[in-house]
Amino acid sequence: MDPYTEQQLVRNQDSRNTWQRYAEHRQHVMELLCENSKDDYRSICIWGAGNANDLDLNRLLEVFSEVHLVDLDQEALLFAVEQQSLRTTPTVILHGGVDLLGITEFTSNAVAEQRNPAAIDRLLRHFRTPPAPPCERCDVVASVCLLSQLIEAIATLVGPSHPRLPELVTAVRCHHWQGLLQATRPGGRAFLITEILSSDTFPTLTTIPNPSLRNALAQQINMRNFYTGLNPAILESLAEREPAIGRLCNGIVAHPPWRWNFGPRTYAVTAYEARTLSSD
Ligand SMILES: C[S@@+](CC[C@H](N)C(=O)[O-])C[C@H]1O[C@@H](n2cnc3c(N)ncnc32)[C@H](O)[C@@H]1O
Repeated sequence: MDPYTEQQLVRNQDSRNTWQRYAEHRQHVMELLCENSKDDYRSICIWGAGNANDLDLNRLLEVFSEVHLVDLDQEALLFAVEQQSLRTTPTVILHGGVDLLGITEFTSNAVAEQRNPAAIDRLLRHFRTPPAPPCERCDVVASVCLLSQLIEAIATLVGPSHPRLPELVTAVRCHHWQGLLQATRPGGRAFLITEILSSDTFPTLTTIPNPSLRNALAQQINMRNFYTGLNPAILESLAEREPAIGRLCNGIVAHPPWRWNFGPRTYAVTAYEARTLSSD
């Protein structure tokens, strides 16, 4: 098994028993995915579903007649449906072993090989082609705290101080959004849900009252306290910055942030939503 996949499997094994702790985060994710869903929305696809501790799958089945779960880690998906007593429910469809960045074909090579100019050009060419949709187009497609893993993967691959890392991160972000939008049926909704910073670099994150969270985070962002590639101001403006994204949707809107109690740290999470252009 390649080292990246192995790392994801270990992380998922270590975070199996977190259902209670994720309650508040799960509630926010579920509100986004289930509210304002039109009556004719039938299918939803979740990217990075993993153990699905951030998803109430039974609630999703009240709104959607088909729920597709996609992840690199098939074992985590099996755990997810077992935990929520849905192992034999045919309308929950698992797509395990799917690499949504195509990164695993690069991670087995020697580190030095990944850092030379030709290898960087190869990666950039690879990211120019969005991932193939893992299943038929769905009415709603959501990436749940996956983009941070993909950006971390590319930083690990080429090294965090590589001069061309910003170019690669930009390409990964664009690849991810394009993939999400192309997996969404015309007139559907695509969501990018992502961590932007954590209590590791903003220790008072855990104690800020909810009404003050947005302003407190805005101050941190102004001080450039956010994960590489996950500056909310950039994420929100990607439809204008990247024609390849802009031509697939009606713009991107940001939802109010919330907190995710992960255990060792708390994350500030934001969600971005785009409606795909309707076919008529
Ligand atoms: C932070 S977890 C998301 C939390 C998860 N929804 C849960 O509640 O357990 C990120 C997920 O993305 C998956 N992942 C990471 N890289 C991936 C890739 N290249 N393709 C598909 N899935 C990937 C991991 O296996 C993991 O399950």
